Amino acid sequence: MSEASVTSETRLERMEDLVSLCARRGFIFQSSEIYGGINGFWDYGPLGTELKNNLKSRWWQRVVRARPDVEGIDSAIIAHPRTWEASGHVEHFTDPMVDCRACKKRFRADQLADAGPCNSREGTSEHDLTDPRSFNLMLKTQIGASEEAASEAYLRAETCQPIFNDFKRVREAARQKIPFGIAQIGKAFRNEINPRNFTFRSREFEQAELEFFCHPSEREKWFEHWLEQRLAFHRELGFDDDHLQTRPHADDELAHYARAAVDVEYLFPFGWQEIEGVHDRGDWDLSRHSEYSGKDLGITDPETKEHYVPMVIETSVGVDRTCLALLVDAYREEALEGGDSRVVMRFHPSLAPIQAAVLPLSKKLAEPAHAVEAELRRELNVFYDDAGNIGRRYRRQDEAGTPFCVTIDFESGDDGKATIRDRDSMRQDRVPLEGVLAYLRDRVRGE
Ligand code: GAP
Repeated sequence: MSEASVTSETRLERMEDLVSLCARRGFIFQSSEIYGGINGFWDYGPLGTELKNNLKSRWWQRVVRARPDVEGIDSAIIAHPRTWEASGHVEHFTDPMVDCRACKKRFRADQLADAGPCNSREGTSEHDLTDPRSFNLMLKTQIGASEEAASEAYLRAETCQPIFNDFKRVREAARQKIPFGIAQIGKAFRNEINPRNFTFRSREFEQAELEFFCHPSEREKWFEHWLEQRLAFHRELGFDDDHLQTRPHADDELAHYARAAVDVEYLFPFGWQEIEGVHDRGDWDLSRHSEYSGKDLGITDPETKEHYVPMVIETSVGVDRTCLALLVDAYREEALEGGDSRVVMRFHPSLAPIQAAVLPLSKKLAEPAHAVEAELRRELNVFYDDAGNIGRRYRRQDEAGTPFCVTIDFESGDDGKATIRDRDSMRQDRVPLEGVLAYLRDRVRGE
């Protein structure tokens, strides 16, 4: 079945459209939805999980596996509580918070423009705000069998601190020399005052972080190197220059550990926002952990015998924020010839949650269609759908962002071919059944 061609397209303008598509199609939805949800926590459904896993594997491939000078780890979420004293989070990891005495809502004092009106005062919609006070963003928990004997601990606020704790062990075990890096992907937790913009600011989220240790004389060089690498990564995801920018931090916005920082920002419908930070953390972390643990985390250069604390260049990307950028970036509403329209998620085929859908034109074609499905499943994530008319099945796959639909029809038995339909151009190619996997492999892997 050939389809009407596209006459115009628009990008995502209202986040609500994406939020509803994500819930309906099972990308991302409120956590604990049956209890009314829990603010700042999100669950990824089947499509969202695949998208996120594809993103994480891409990061791991580029940052860890492709590099002889980077090692990967997977640390515990809860670290020794002294970790967070040493890192400065107990003292400094705060946001200024204000309360409205009338409506009892809480706001970040530096984000009052987003507070909305107060509905609890007569004659004014202005909030009756308290003075700002510091609110620590770390989430606490207790460890131990009985409450009296339990000790307080924190869920990690950034994934990098265990990397510093493990620095000596990993360097020695992996026989790495400076310069080298340690990377990990994992959950981080922040008790954000106002979670907002869908998953953008959540209380539980994933980070993919690299801590790269270098000699003090090479800090600038490695900072530039990693900033460049990370920009190349975001371009590879498909973000174009109109939607991607870098923004250096002014001195007064630097985090307590940073000597220099550049944000990588994406243009969301709610404006330019950070998806990744590249930081020069100097010797802050290793020096502080040396001091608080009493273990020297310095290095002695084997040739010059110089003893020094390595400097750290960090790249820290939010996995959920980048997923959100991928969803926003992929979303298109297209008007079609004849007055029809479609929503299509134009993920790069290598990131798409489902790479191919197998669609027999009739249930009677189940046998050859299942044979193609089984062959494709050896390498790709595949969806099988034999329900409803073919036009509607294509539209369902367009919304899921499936780049290729493989249709098995009654002619397939005669000519031994399937029709492969391209999501974006809606062009159809007739391909021999035994060549379908190779055809898709080439297109899915095409960078
Ligand atoms: N280790 C450095 C660090 O954590 P950050 O700028 O606070 O730096 C790094 O966080 C990245 O983590 C951000 O660029 C963002 O993508 C993500 N991130 C931070 N807070 C987040 C939140 N509340 N919800 C979702 N992602 C968040």
